[in-house]
Amino acid sequence: MKVLKRSGLILAASLMLLISAACGNSGAGDNTSKNANKAGDTKTEVKETAVDKKITLGFSQVGAESGWRTANTISVQDSAKEAGIELKFSDAQQKQENQIKAIRTFIQQKVDVIAFSPVVESGWDTVLKEAKEAGIPVILTDRAVDSKDTSLYKTFIGSDFVEEGRSAGKWLVEKFKDASGDINIVELQGTTGSAPAIDRQKGFAEEIVANPNLKIIASQTGDFTRAKGKEVMQAFLKANKKIDVLYAHNDDMGLGAIQAIEAAGLKPGEDIIIITVDGVKDGFVAASEGKINFIVECNPLLGPQLMQAARDVLSGTEIPQRIVTKEGVFTSEDAKRELPNRKY
Ligand code: AHR
Repeated sequence: MKVLKRSGLILAASLMLLISAACGNSGAGDNTSKNANKAGDTKTEVKETAVDKKITLGFSQVGAESGWRTANTISVQDSAKEAGIELKFSDAQQKQENQIKAIRTFIQQKVDVIAFSPVVESGWDTVLKEAKEAGIPVILTDRAVDSKDTSLYKTFIGSDFVEEGRSAGKWLVEKFKDASGDINIVELQGTTGSAPAIDRQKGFAEEIVANPNLKIIASQTGDFTRAKGKEVMQAFLKANKKIDVLYAHNDDMGLGAIQAIEAAGLKPGEDIIIITVDGVKDGFVAASEGKINFIVECNPLLGPQLMQAARDVLSGTEIPQRIVTKEGVFTSEDAKRELPNRKY
């Protein structure tokens, strides 16, 4: 790799030996192993490895659509600073063409490594091949791509969104296990074509088939934003007389929907059972007030793992192709207890 020099390797190898001896810890790469990042962890020590010049990381972020995204951006920026990595940050404003442009700019600028959270799953092969031909490794964070050629990126760090959908579905099946009539569900989906929207829908649908009373009567994108969540929920309420459950693919859409539900004279959390995904502070506040009944956590604090992966990739250290983030689930009662500890 271009940033490596033999002397750097030797120096780093000795450094690693010294560090592990000093810590009495023989396990390498604690933060890049499977299920390594416990939700809520904000700091991870990034080990020095065989890179003999300051690393430049080009990072293309999805946008600023949600509280989750803001926490993710801060995590990446803070972790880069802490790790002494120069960060070139670009905000794509939820547009794939902006991300492709940003990646091409990073290639021209000859950054050492490129990382990005793809707005949508498809359509990345061409630009990823360009990065590969330029010899610049790519790391995916938060969201996956559907490229068949997995050699186009080094690793994908992030949540298991299908599992998140399953957790939401399982809770609902249990909640309504004794229901005798139809339970009408409306679904606020994330950005169309994005990995979390596709996977959270899939996991949820997989689980709710276990209870034939559970019926999805309407499903529409709210683009992961509060404003759209409110707008779409207003339309759902107008078009459907009986809504029992709202499943929102993130807290922000759920919070927007709560405004619409209250404006319609209904009680969120009682008249309409609400499930969301993320677990940002505002979501926890609403859950602790009983307005959200169940939150499936999605951890945005991926910065430390990303910095570690960037160093490892550049030093030639083996890393897993998939690094899954550990997450929890919270009822209103759990949220009440956990709220004071919530970091984002
Ligand atoms: O990709 C993660 C999702 O993107 C979060 O659940 C959502 O809030 C964000 O916008």
